[in-house]
Amino acid sequence: MNDTVNLSLPSKPEYVSVARLTASFVANKMGFDIEAIEDIKLAVGEACNNAVLHSGSKDTYNLEFRQNNETLSIEIKDFGNGFDFNNYHEPMLEDPQESGLGLFIIKALMDEVKIDTEEGLGTKIIMSKIVE
Ligand SMILES: Nc1ncnc2c1ncn2[C@@H]1O[C@H](COP(=O)(O)OP(=O)(O)O)[C@@H](O)[C@H]1O
Ligand SMILES: [Mg+2]
Repeated sequence: MNDTVNLSLPSKPEYVSVARLTASFVANKMGFDIEAIEDIKLAVGEACNNAVLHSGSKDTYNLEFRQNNETLSIEIKDFGNGFDFNNYHEPMLEDPQESGLGLFIIKALMDEVKIDTEEGLGTKIIMSKIVE
């Protein structure tokens, strides 16, 4: 099975649930269990929140959900400001903060995460998970 779903969403918080619902549908269709589906929804929601809140983005951002046999790959791409990944520090879990957890959560919940970001050009995050 090799299906791809593409979405273009307004860069507004209220549309993040469309991305979460789509993630849920595709993951369910591929046979992920309920716990994994919740993890995927959470990871997608965090990446979308970042695209909406941090990118200073234009009007829309894009998502692509690719099903490749047992692997679900989700790409979230904005056309905003990007950021300096060298300045990104993982959160100190012994000193928990309310913010700064999104990327950490995404990496913890997904099997593989790649972040491509360039200041002035935008950010692309590709996350994938394999059906167990
Ligand atoms: N799509 C994005 N566009 C611009 N900056 C981003 C993007 N995603 C993440 N960042 C930067 O990385 C930081 C860490 O993101 P995250 O771990 O989700 O924590 P938080 O969103 O709570 O700050 C953000 O504060 C922001 O500076
Ligand atoms: Mg965040």
